Amino acid sequence: MTTVLDGLRSRLRERSAVIGVIGLGYVGLPQALSFAEAGYRVLGFDIDAAKPEALRAGRSYLLDIPSSRVSALVSTDRLAATSDFDRLGECDALIVCVPTPLTEYGEPDLSAVSGTASTIAPRLRRGQLIVLVSTTYPGTTEELVRPILEGGGLAVGTDIALGYSPEREDPGNPRFALENTPKLVSGCTDACRELTALLYEPVVAKVVPVSTTRVAEASKLLENIYRAVNIALVNELKMCFDRMGIDVWEVIGAAGTKPFGFTPFYPGPGLGGHCIPIDPFYLTWKARAFDFHTRFIELAGEVNTAMPDYVVTRLHEALDVRGSTLHGARIFVLGVAYKRDTSDIRESPALRVLSILARRGAVITYHDPHVPRLGRSRHYQFDLESTPLTPESLRRADAVLIVTDHSSVDYQSVVQHAALVVDTRNATRDVRDGREKVVKA
Ligand SMILES: NC(=O)c1ccc[n+]([C@@H]2O[C@H](COP(=O)([O-])OP(=O)(O)OC[C@H]3O[C@@H](n4cnc5c(N)ncnc54)[C@H](O)[C@@H]3O)[C@@H](O)[C@H]2O)c1
Repeated sequence: MTTVLDGLRSRLRERSAVIGVIGLGYVGLPQALSFAEAGYRVLGFDIDAAKPEALRAGRSYLLDIPSSRVSALVSTDRLAATSDFDRLGECDALIVCVPTPLTEYGEPDLSAVSGTASTIAPRLRRGQLIVLVSTTYPGTTEELVRPILEGGGLAVGTDIALGYSPEREDPGNPRFALENTPKLVSGCTDACRELTALLYEPVVAKVVPVSTTRVAEASKLLENIYRAVNIALVNELKMCFDRMGIDVWEVIGAAGTKPFGFTPFYPGPGLGGHCIPIDPFYLTWKARAFDFHTRFIELAGEVNTAMPDYVVTRLHEALDVRGSTLHGARIFVLGVAYKRDTSDIRESPALRVLSILARRGAVITYHDPHVPRLGRSRHYQFDLESTPLTPESLRRADAVLIVTDHSSVDYQSVVQHAALVVDTRNATRDVRDGREKVVKA
C-alpha cells in the first residue's frame, strides 16, 4: 500500500526535499548549513527577524561559522531564511531547534516548543515530517508536540511523520561537528523513525535509531546529567584537595594516565551554557510525576551552583594574605563566555562571579576577546565593555581572576604583569616564571 509518506521518502532519497529549520541559533544554524551543503534547499525560520536578515545578507552571527560559508549557500539559492511562518508549507521536513530553558522557578519552560508546534499545526500539509531536536524531558514529543500537531486534523504515522533527534553540538570544538557525530533518531511510529533516519543519513556519519522518542529524549538527558554529575564530583574534590594543599589538576592528570575505567572531568568556576546547568532539571521535574527524586542531579546542582561563591572566597583569601581586601579592590576578570573560544554567555558562571564581586564592593572590569560588551542577560544587568588586555590594564588590577581560558590569551604575559592571578581553569599551567603570584581556585 502506498501512503502520502512515500512521496516524502522519495524526495528525501533524491535530495529534492526542502528542509525547514525552525530556530536558527547555535543548533539550528549549523544544521541548516549542513543540509544546504549536502545539496538540499533549506529554508530557515526564526522569530528573531535579525537572524534571517543577517543570513539573507550572507552574514554569520556565530563565532565558529564564517560568513563565507553562509554567503556561498545564499548566493546559490541553497539557503534562504525568513520570519514568515506562512512559508512552512514550502518545506517537506521541519526541524525544530528552539530553546528549552528553565522558568525562574527552575521548571521546564517549553513555551518555545509548544508555541512552534502551535504555529506549525494550522499550516501542516499531508506528507510533511516534523523532527523535534530541542533537549527536553522524556515524553515531550508524544505528550506535548503530537497532540498539538494532530489538533490540526492530520494523523501522525499516516498523514504526517513526527520524530525526535537530539543534538550533540559542542560549540568551539574543532574536532566534532554534525557531520562526524553519530545522531540518535527516533519516531512516534516505525515509519516516523525510518523517515527521521532518512532525513539525517546524508548529513551525519552515522544515524543510531532507538526504539521510542522517550528513549531518545532520555538518552540526551543522560549525556548531560553524566557531565553535570562528574563535574560536580571534581568540583567537590577540588575544594577538598585545596584544603589538603593538593593540586586537583595534577591529581586528575595522574589519574588520567589509567588507560581504562577512568574518564577525566575538570573543575571550574561553575557550570554554564544552555545545556548542562539546565537540562538535568528537565528530568528532575518529570520524575516528580512518578514520585521519584533525582538525588544525584539535585546534589550536583547544589555543588556546581556554589562554585562562583567558592571562587570569590578563594580570591578574597588570596587578597587577605597579601594584606588587601575585596572591598574596593580592582578585580580584572579574564574571560566571561561560559566556555573557551566561544562568545556564548548564557548561564555563564562569570556573570554570577561578576555580580558577587560587585555586590561585595569590588571594582570590576573584564576582558574577553569574544564578548565586547556585557549588558542585560536573563538574570543580570551589567553595563561593561571589554577592557583591552595590555601590560597596563593587568598592572592596574589588584587581582586578575581567570574565569574562562580562551586560547588566544597569552597567560605568560598575564602572570608577568599582574600582581595576583586567581586561576579557576589551570590556564597558567605552562607558565614558569612568577608562579608565586598564582593561586588556583
Ligand atoms: N547550544 C548547544 O550547544 C546545544 C547542544 C545540544 C542541544 N541544544 C538544545 O538545542 C535547543 C536550541 O538551543 P540553541 O543553543 O540553538 O538555542 P539558541 O538560543 O542559540 O537558538 C534558538 C533560536 O530559536 C529562536 N526561537 C525562539 N523561539 C522560537 C519560536 N517560537 N519559533 C522560531 N524560532 C524561535 C530564537 O530566536 C533563537 O534564534 C535547546 O533545546 C538546547 O537545549 C543546544
